[in-house]
Amino acid sequence: MGLACGHFGRGIAPSGASRGTREAIDLRDGGKALRGMDVQRALTSVQDSIAPALLGHNATDQAGIDATILALDPSPLKDVLGGNATVATSMAVLHAAAAAARKPLWRHIADHYGQTPTLPLPEIQIFGGGAHAGRRVDIQDFMVMVPGAKTFDEVMEVTSEVYFAAGAIMKQKGRLAGVADEGGWWPIFDSNEEALETLTLAIEKVGEKPGDRVVISLDVAASEFCTDGRYRLALEDRDMGADGLIDLLGTWIDSYPIASIEDPVSEDDPAGMAKFTRRFGARVQIIGDDYLVTNAKLVTEAAAQKACNAVLIKVNQAGTITEGVDAFKAANAAGYRSVVSARSGETEDVTISHLATGLGAGQLKVGSFTRSERMAKWNECLRIQDTLGRDAFVGGAPLANTWWG
Ligand code: PGA
Ligand code: ZN
Repeated sequence: MGLACGHFGRGIAPSGASRGTREAIDLRDGGKALRGMDVQRALTSVQDSIAPALLGHNATDQAGIDATILALDPSPLKDVLGGNATVATSMAVLHAAAAAARKPLWRHIADHYGQTPTLPLPEIQIFGGGAHAGRRVDIQDFMVMVPGAKTFDEVMEVTSEVYFAAGAIMKQKGRLAGVADEGGWWPIFDSNEEALETLTLAIEKVGEKPGDRVVISLDVAASEFCTDGRYRLALEDRDMGADGLIDLLGTWIDSYPIASIEDPVSEDDPAGMAKFTRRFGARVQIIGDDYLVTNAKLVTEAAAQKACNAVLIKVNQAGTITEGVDAFKAANAAGYRSVVSARSGETEDVTISHLATGLGAGQLKVGSFTRSERMAKWNECLRIQDTLGRDAFVGGAPLANTWWG
């Protein structure tokens, strides 16, 4: 995206393996080329529809730019232009506007949206699972957070130690078998709970008392193993209803230092979300991802039903920067926490590091502590820290009002 003043911006759309059914369409061509994953149709959207419509617009008017894109495709899931075409363009404009203002992107975002920039508390995957690991285990993400750290770089150090300690335990058990989609260890376990036990052990191995400085965070991604209201834990050959799953997660919350749980029941079960939140919302952070798909209206509806107490912000689920920020604003209005997040299919694009910082969102989830598309985001946060200062780290503040806080 080039501006008349000569400044330039680029955005790369990510994609996800465990998509919510209500998120913007990632338009692919189908057919034989590139296993059907080619994006010529999305490129045509950008070149033939979006670019001519944006010509002459003021790049600093992000809301006006995104409204113009939306007017070209008012379909709820952006299946005419493709959400990948709309989000990449929207991100490119944001970058170009920051370049024209001669500001780092995080500063431009903070100024544009009137937010105080802060360095986020990371959620970092140690074991991958679910759709990201051939469904080798049912739960999708076994992660750590280091809310007891004083600085962002301290989080990086502690997480790296836990990650390698977990790898060493896997090796010792003869179960080391590479990494999953987001860079977490490939999960060779006999049960989902064994992953939790191993993660807790890894935290202990690095000299930490689990639940003290380091806590566990799970993305259950329950929609992925739910059919007609029944949940099937294939690894354990068990089948249960929503109440059974909620009880099971409750026993894990009782037994392990879990401070955050994402998508505990299916995206189609608002009553289950509300029930889970009633039972555990005062103890753990409960994040809606597939359930809320970065949609301001769904966030407001969930708040009315007291379902979840946090929202995952994935801009490509919404399809434009403005809609992503609207979901963040809706979360703030509802008193919900926000977690800016990457996708399982990521690139070298580091926009989300700037978005999490510039909005002062509080939390950032990027996958693991390996693979360049993940490390690029963490490294970008370290570079931002160089300018913004170590004091800008939010620490454990986002987990206030949970057992940890
Ligand atoms: P996805 O996974 O990108 O495959 O949707 C990430 C998540 O569920 O948080
Ligand atoms: Zn998720």
